[in-house]
Amino acid sequence: MPAIPSPPAAEQIAAPKKDVPAFSPKDVGVIFVLGGPGAGKGTQCANLVREYGFKHLSAGDLLRAEQERPGSQFGNMIKEYIREGKIVPMEVTVQLLENAMGEAIRTEGKKRFLIDGFPRKMDQALKFEETVCPSQFTLFFDCPESVMQERLLNRGKTSGRADDNAESITKRFRTFIETSMPVVDFFEKQGKVVKIPAIKTPEEVFQDVETAMKTRGFQPQK
Ligand code: C5P
Ligand code: MG
Repeated sequence: MPAIPSPPAAEQIAAPKKDVPAFSPKDVGVIFVLGGPGAGKGTQCANLVREYGFKHLSAGDLLRAEQERPGSQFGNMIKEYIREGKIVPMEVTVQLLENAMGEAIRTEGKKRFLIDGFPRKMDQALKFEETVCPSQFTLFFDCPESVMQERLLNRGKTSGRADDNAESITKRFRTFIETSMPVVDFFEKQGKVVKIPAIKTPEEVFQDVETAMKTRGFQPQK
C-alpha cells in the first residue's frame, strides 16, 4: 500500500499534479455522503450497503484506524484534530481513502463507493476529484443542530469516541457550518446534491433515500 505523504510544509515546492485521477469514473462510482455530525450518515450508509451493495468508506473511521495504527506518524496529530473537531490536513485523508478504495477494488472487486463524512472542506473536495475520482453526486442529510446534539450525546454514552462530548460537539458544529457547508454549496451549484431531511426515524429517512436513489438511476439489488 502506498505510504501516506506528509502534509507539505509551506516552503516546500508543490508535488507535480497527476493529470488523470487514479480511478476513472467510467469504471468506479463515487457517491459522497455529507451531513452534520449526528445527522445519521453512518446509519443510512449501512442501509445502502445492505440493499445496494455499495462499499462504504467512512473518512472518520479511516482516520481513527490510522490514529490507532502502531507506528503511524500521524497518530497524535489526528487525535488532536478529532478532539478539537477540526479537519485533518487533507493529504492524509485523501491518501487513506485512495488506499482503501484500491484495496476494495483489488480484494473485493468493489466498484461503487459511498464515501461517508467526506469531503468536509473545499481542499479535500478538489484534491479528491482531481487525483482520485470525480463524484457522481452527494447525498446530503439535513438535520437541525438540536436533534443532532441529542443523538450525539446519547451515542457518547456508549461510543467511546473522544469527540462525542458537549465541548467537542460544539466545535464540530462550528466546523460543519463554517468549513463543510461551503462544500455542499459548491456541489449544489453543479446540480450534484441530493438533499434528504434527516429528522425522522432511520426507517423513514431511508424511504426518502431509496426514492432519491431511484431518481438517480439506482435500484436495490434484491
Ligand atoms: O465523520 P466523523 O464524525 O466520524 O469524523 C470525526 C472527525 O474526523 C471529524 O470531526 C474531523 O476531526 C475528522 N475528519 C476530517 N476530515 C473528514 C472526516 C473526518 O478531518 N473528511
Ligand atoms: Mg460517521
